[in-house]
Amino acid sequence: MPSRFYVTTPIYYINDLPHLGSAYTTIAADVMCRYKRLRGFESWFLTGTDEHGLKIQREAEARGISPSALADEVSAKFREVWPKLGCAPDDFIRTSEPRHHRAVQELWEKIAKNGDIYLGHYEGLYCVGCEAYYTEKELTQPGNLCPLHKTPAELVKEESYFFRLSKYEKRLLDYYARQPSPVQPASRRAEVLSFVQSGLTDLSVSRTTFKWGIPVPGDPRHVMYVWFDALSNYYTALTAPEDRRRFWPPQLQLVGKDILRFHCVYWQAFLMAAGYPDNELPEQVFAHGFLTYGGHKMSKSLRNTVSPVALAEAISPTVGVDTLRYCLMRSISFGQDGDFSIEDVLSRYSSDLGNALGNLLNRVLPFAETVPPKGETGPLEQSLLEAHRAGAAAGADAFDAVSPTRALEAIWSVLAAANLYVDKAAPWAAKKSNDSVRLGTIVTTLLEVLEGVSVMIAPVMPTVADAIRAQLGLAPLTAEVGHDLWPLTPPARKPGAALRRGDPIFPRLEKETEKELIARFAPPADDDAEAPKPGEAPAAEAPSPVTHGDFTRLDLRVGVVVSAERVKKKDKLLDLRVDIGDAAPRRIIAGIATAYTPEQLVGKRVVVLCNLVPRDFGKGLVSEGMLLAAGDRMRVLTVDGDEAAGTRVR
Ligand code: MSP
Repeated sequence: MPSRFYVTTPIYYINDLPHLGSAYTTIAADVMCRYKRLRGFESWFLTGTDEHGLKIQREAEARGISPSALADEVSAKFREVWPKLGCAPDDFIRTSEPRHHRAVQELWEKIAKNGDIYLGHYEGLYCVGCEAYYTEKELTQPGNLCPLHKTPAELVKEESYFFRLSKYEKRLLDYYARQPSPVQPASRRAEVLSFVQSGLTDLSVSRTTFKWGIPVPGDPRHVMYVWFDALSNYYTALTAPEDRRRFWPPQLQLVGKDILRFHCVYWQAFLMAAGYPDNELPEQVFAHGFLTYGGHKMSKSLRNTVSPVALAEAISPTVGVDTLRYCLMRSISFGQDGDFSIEDVLSRYSSDLGNALGNLLNRVLPFAETVPPKGETGPLEQSLLEAHRAGAAAGADAFDAVSPTRALEAIWSVLAAANLYVDKAAPWAAKKSNDSVRLGTIVTTLLEVLEGVSVMIAPVMPTVADAIRAQLGLAPLTAEVGHDLWPLTPPARKPGAALRRGDPIFPRLEKETEKELIARFAPPADDDAEAPKPGEAPAAEAPSPVTHGDFTRLDLRVGVVVSAERVKKKDKLLDLRVDIGDAAPRRIIAGIATAYTPEQLVGKRVVVLCNLVPRDFGKGLVSEGMLLAAGDRMRVLTVDGDEAAGTRVR
């Protein structure tokens, strides 16, 4: 029986149009689904829209239309946008669909029959933006402000049905203790654990003061709490046709960290109460961080959203979508918050994609029109094939651990090895000396590695993968259930097949175009940031206070310097490779050559800021992080003790 993979995204509220923040989750889910498909899994990818509740009713009222008209309009926009971003969900569920209504009501009835829903009276605080109940302690005082929306929570006082959440405390704790943990990453698991350990109270699961929702079976004065309705979508979408049920339970549920509690406490408890045994509960909920823009969460309420389709189109009509997918997955360590920046996209477009990947094709294809026979391989080939093997294994491990960021790092280490191989093997020299056997070996070795890379990048960049394959004379990739296509061993090519050298896949962007993109996609000015008043110290001398949240956005890690070299004609710079616990060491260009010799740095345990937007020092010198150093004498910060490379600094 083939292995199955059921992956879900949250269903999106229809008070907001799809933006880069919502696209982030869907793209990540699509990447994971494509990866599993390549590995031969039978997969199912679900997304959709969350259309009920007070928030939507109010939005419709504000627009002077009915909630269902609003739902039809915005839901269609979500449905249309995903294919434009290279995402291929298998199903798109709307909570206003009859199939959902029917199945949610059945779920409710099952839980009620098991005695876990009862009628009572609710009095408490409610944030309509979150559609969530809060205690005073959880809100910001004074004013009972929602920590996320910064608006006052409303007092709700009404008859309500309650779900016996408190009954499931112990079973939930047992569920979290499972290995591997069903809540990822570990920091989020700790958050959920502490919430449940501090004691659960029963949850109000119906409302009587508005109508836009699914009626409670047998008591139509009540509509279901929108989160009961919404969370059930992951189950209701599989109820028809019947054979879709084989995908239950979900293997991976991707959510933003803002909706962790709903997905890791309420959702699981509802399922437990509906009679699901432990082995039929979701296998993993993975909460990723926020995509920020100019330092703030990208969201409609902050008016700092970016249209992902317009952005992709502006980068390039052919490879813009794949570029965007690559940058989102590569630049923001999956699980952490990360700032979107157009400068980062442009720098990665030219260095990672143009130079390391696209240009590699141009360094090979001019030497042959058909796949040449491969002669005897030597140590250079062996070491490249070893890098391929190691990169493919690390890439697969990283994807399996839901870390597309680490997977891409591993795949790019193969590209780095391949580019180094071209430098060392020097195909031009073999050509000049008419050594066609040697030239054949070099070219075919590279064709094979490029073929392997085309497969490995396909989950993130499906269009680019096929464009590369076309130039290599290979058919587009087609995944097949039961066939694992992951190139753990580098593929072998038969001599004689035609190669089809084409235009550069990532054509260089004109400086003017880059400038226009930077101007067009710069984050909006921060209205909150006040300029220093006359007489006040400028910000650089007296930085304003940061919240703990601001601090945790910095991905600071212990790094061990693996190698250090001087940079020609740049007497302040050192070119370092630093082990930061990832599959491959990170390249860091540090302006510390006047303070240290390269030898003094190798082996040093330093502190690295890993999620700094890459900085291009020109001539291919791109720094992917920063060492922390003190004062004008640039003394690097070291670590007291022998903490492993990659250990978080907090
Ligand atoms: N409707 C609920 C989810 C119900 S699931 C049963 C909801 N919708 S939402 O539209 O507000 O947000 C859905 C998800 O969009 C978030 O959890 C997150 O995955 C994603 N994101 C929206 N803005 C985002 C960022 N700025 N950054 C990262 N993800 C973001 O909550």
